[in-house]
Amino acid sequence: MSARAILIGLAFVLSLTACGGSSAPPAADATTDATTDAAAAPAAEAAGEAEPVVPPPAAPADIAPNPDLPALLAAADVNKGKILYLQCRACHSLIPETEPGKIGPTLHGVIGRAAGAVPGFAYSDAIMKSGITWTAEQIDNWLTRPSEFLPGNKMVFVGIQKPQDRADIIAYIQAESAKSAAP
Ligand code: HEC
Repeated sequence: MSARAILIGLAFVLSLTACGGSSAPPAADATTDATTDAAAAPAAEAAGEAEPVVPPPAAPADIAPNPDLPALLAAADVNKGKILYLQCRACHSLIPETEPGKIGPTLHGVIGRAAGAVPGFAYSDAIMKSGITWTAEQIDNWLTRPSEFLPGNKMVFVGIQKPQDRADIIAYIQAESAKSAAP
């Protein structure tokens, strides 16, 4: 039932009470009130309809964060991470710019950054629609097996099975990102 119908109905009941059951039409001021309120109602309804229907993002695989990760990061060996990062280095620079010749985006500052945010890099839809922010936990899951974490992504990398190795790499990325870009 519309707000207008309710208000007119209410005005009618009130007028019945006021006029002791006479069949006279509702008092003029009651009609005015009903009209004023009813005029506001369509605006509210329109606002409700205008709510955008945003499809949910192509969600990353629902992989729970590794509960041991904080401990692994605390025990991480940055120097070992540097050596392990050689696997990534072929494709990813760790300076603010994406180096020419690298087929992946720079990983400088990637921790805490939204996925797909390096300007000018042509990411896959899988990355662009993931809605991910790269926390250490998300990167840990991603590096375990990228193809499972975000199906359809274009990072051709099988993954790293040892949890401590992943933590060492994440610690190294973090340490390098904290340094200035200047040599
Ligand atoms: C063969 C090349 C290649 C290797 C090796 C590789 N990557 Fe990638 N990586 C990519 C590409 C290409 C993308 C972009 C993926 C897309 O758009 O689907 C990417 C994306 C990423 C992203 C998301 C970046 C962003 O801005 O959203 C992270 C994080 C990442 N890689 C980490 C790593 C780490 C850490 C390693 C090493 C353990 C590694 N990658 C190894 C090619 C590679």
